[in-house]
Amino acid sequence: MDTEILAMNTNLSSSVPSAVESECLVVVVLDQSEKDQAGKDQADKDKPAPAVATSDAAVPAAAKDVIASGEVTGKIFETTLLHHPAGLKAKRLLLLGGGKAKTFTASELRKLAGAAVRTLKAKSICSFAFAVPETAVPAADGVRAIVEGALIGSFEPDYYKSDKKDQRIDSLTIVAQGDAKGLQSALDTGRIVGESQNFARDLVNEPSNRMTPTMLADRARKMASEVGLGCEILGPDKIKDLKMGAFWGVAQGSEEPPALIVLRYNPAGAPANVHLGLVGKGITFDTGGISIKPADGMEKMKYDMAGGAAMIGTMRAIALLKPKVKVTAIILATENMPSGKAQKPGDVQIAMSGKSIEIINTDAEGRLVLADGLTYARQLGCTHLVDAATLTGAVVVALGYVNAGIFASDDQMYDRFAQALKQAGEKMWRLPLDEEYKDLIKSNIADMANAGVRWGGAIFAAMFLKEFAEDTPWIHLDIAGTAWMEEQKPWIAKGPSGIALRSLVEFVKGWGA
Ligand code: BES
Ligand code: MN
Ligand code: ZN
Repeated sequence: MDTEILAMNTNLSSSVPSAVESECLVVVVLDQSEKDQAGKDQADKDKPAPAVATSDAAVPAAAKDVIASGEVTGKIFETTLLHHPAGLKAKRLLLLGGGKAKTFTASELRKLAGAAVRTLKAKSICSFAFAVPETAVPAADGVRAIVEGALIGSFEPDYYKSDKKDQRIDSLTIVAQGDAKGLQSALDTGRIVGESQNFARDLVNEPSNRMTPTMLADRARKMASEVGLGCEILGPDKIKDLKMGAFWGVAQGSEEPPALIVLRYNPAGAPANVHLGLVGKGITFDTGGISIKPADGMEKMKYDMAGGAAMIGTMRAIALLKPKVKVTAIILATENMPSGKAQKPGDVQIAMSGKSIEIINTDAEGRLVLADGLTYARQLGCTHLVDAATLTGAVVVALGYVNAGIFASDDQMYDRFAQALKQAGEKMWRLPLDEEYKDLIKSNIADMANAGVRWGGAIFAAMFLKEFAEDTPWIHLDIAGTAWMEEQKPWIAKGPSGIALRSLVEFVKGWGA
């Protein structure tokens, strides 16, 4: 369904907001009140002080009455829609609350743009203009955040409904003053990132009968040829030739052939000593295998390839943004199925690295496929590794649906990633990899077990992967709780979130700057 992700037109306007002709002009209202403001009594301190974040005086003038009424507070995602706003060229004015002025950043703005799209398209408004709140964020950052957020907000997962309402935004004008070239480049970057995130979400959204390992590989190949990436798909024979016993152990139970997807980006002028490796879990359906999962909620396990999709989408963005750094992505795509050929609890598999693994639970399959993916990435010469996987239910117990889990074997690499997270407006919380946890993965008969200890399950999985990253600086992202929105939010639909992609893109860009 990848035609839909490209549907929205975006363009810039350098007019003042009041002079923009549009179905609707969207402006941000920020609450200027501060809790500990000196010289005011308590009641005044807590009272909202809403102000429109623009230097065009005509806009607050048009909103004067409604603001004076006390109806507008500036609370985040509060919407107030005015028709025929006096003194403005736009037909409507949407006052969109952005929360406290003091804590407002481009991350809030990204969400507000998504909220604007979702609010307006529900009212069958097809085009609008969004004024960068230039009193609160630098113009170029604002343009990029608005484009990304609007694209993310426009994604809907219901494309198999035959009666789906075709409400969508055709065109978005971003109103910003500043260096035209810089603003255009911010818009282009925002488009590439937002569209790539939707591309990844689309892959995740597809059910397993429409996104088999072969189909995922086909989508990756098609995308690679469109954007100029190298692409190689290795099938069952190659996977066995490479002695990927851990990956094969999972794949052997399925009628669907597995696929090892390799995407290559190797630009001229990249430093010779850095080669980033992105490894993604691509389980297109996780039944649990012989250690089968309960029926309740099993349909959700179509999203067990969200880590792989994030890597494929990241490579799309990288190919278009062209940072000067070599990047290879490896996606391990297979189903995890029970069958007469499936691996069984107690089986021992020899991973590509030569390490033996006792399979205690066939439902702990993600770490198995990633183990060989990490080994392969090291063999290809990657100097830094990042993996992303919907790996454990335990990370959901630990961090809920808000933060993804992040593990890092190298503090410097973690610092770079933390910087990228902040830029991208994504939330991840670091979890430990202390040596003391190594006891978790002990096996009686092999080098390690893939499961067994209940407590600290997300750490168990990470400690297991660490054995395969070995001494290569490595980051592991456990996105089991964040890859799927359980509820819709003002800025995003229920369904695949596209988590990790924006941070990964920022992280890679950081090496190529
Ligand atoms: N794909 C699941 C993890 C998962 C859980 C993803 C919830 C998304 C939402 C993974 O393969 C799995 O089954 N993990 C097991 C491991 C256990 C058997 C050691 C788990 O977390 O229960
Ligand atoms: Mn599983
Ligand atoms: Zn899984």
